Amino acid sequence: MEPQKNGTPNAVTMANETPKKVCVTGGTGFLGSWMIKRLLEDGYSVNATVRLDPERKRDISYITNLPGAAERLRVFDADLDKPEMFAPAVEGCVGVFHTAHPLDFAEKESEEVKLKRVTAAMKGILQTCADSKTVRRVVYTASISSAAFDPANTGLIDEDSWTDVELVRSLKAFGGHYIVTKAVTEKAAIELAAELGLDFVSVIPTWITGPFICPNFPESVYVSMALILGDKGHYQHLKESSLVHVDDVARAHIHLFEYPEAKGRYIVAAEQFEIGELSDFLSVKYPQYKMPSPDSWKDVAAVKFSGLSTKKLEATGFKYENGLGEMFDGAIKSCKERGFIN
Ligand SMILES: NC(=O)c1ccc[n+]([C@@H]2O[C@H](COP(=O)([O-])OP(=O)(O)OC[C@H]3O[C@@H](n4cnc5c(N)ncnc54)[C@H](OP(=O)(O)O)[C@@H]3O)[C@@H](O)[C@H]2O)c1
Repeated sequence: MEPQKNGTPNAVTMANETPKKVCVTGGTGFLGSWMIKRLLEDGYSVNATVRLDPERKRDISYITNLPGAAERLRVFDADLDKPEMFAPAVEGCVGVFHTAHPLDFAEKESEEVKLKRVTAAMKGILQTCADSKTVRRVVYTASISSAAFDPANTGLIDEDSWTDVELVRSLKAFGGHYIVTKAVTEKAAIELAAELGLDFVSVIPTWITGPFICPNFPESVYVSMALILGDKGHYQHLKESSLVHVDDVARAHIHLFEYPEAKGRYIVAAEQFEIGELSDFLSVKYPQYKMPSPDSWKDVAAVKFSGLSTKKLEATGFKYENGLGEMFDGAIKSCKERGFIN
């Protein structure tokens, strides 16, 4: 895609302005790209931030070819390492959905480097929103990771639960850096938004799965498919777990942007289960995929993502539209289309 010269230094795609304009950071991601799709379908104009290579050769046609994109999507180059790059994308927007976050489970960089990057970017983006005078609410994509590791948890995780980052560090859990960066960033964002007088809402999704339009195999879809893929390393994440369909997560973000009384944090989780129940469900619905024997997970210690209270979101009138059937139908279809599974 050729960058267009349009007076905005890093604006790549230009389209008509409308008053219902919002910004989505991380527009190339699994959730970000689906958010763009949903927002365009709902009539919004979207300023999406993406990371472009210096030659601007990255193929982002899966978002720029979406229905409505030619008229209502503008794409901006922005990297979390340079928070000032997000300002042109926020300009003139009434809402900002901040989803961009590194999901580097391989932990190639140190926790310190990642933490510095995401918190500095979050601060820059919130300051830009406060300065804009147009942004009326920021909706931040947090994660159940920032609530689930609460030592005070007595079996129910709700919006008052907070992950203890020292506990996570001591556990040396898979994705530990991610869990810490999400928890620290969300807390710091809530505090800074209060200082700046910004209307700020956190969306706290559990594992997201379902169909995807991005070209890669999204990490969380991969985890949700671990029984189908036979990847024992992730049985720990499904043992006592929960899932939510990507479209319900996108809808929850938009609902919480539009719902006037939205305040604070909202857990988003549609289905909670034990691994045996998930295995039974998958074996009946998709007999072509042979499920592993229960012996293969019996000694696996659960990384618990169940026992979640979703009452606060439901009390706002939000309704989940997708269950496990829609999640796995969508995920399997997208995986097959890309040749990730047979
Ligand atoms: N998927 C889940 O189960 C789940 C659950 C709870 C919360 N979340 C949250 O949802 C959000 C989206 O996650 P996802 O599953 O959609 O992951 P994803 O597909 O990896 O998307 C992450 C997005 O962040 C962008 N990003 C990463 N590092 C960046 C940087 N340095 N500068 C600019 N952009 C950067 C990525 O850009 P590139 O394409 O250039 O890498 C991508 O667009 C994240 O905040 C995540 O914490 C996800």
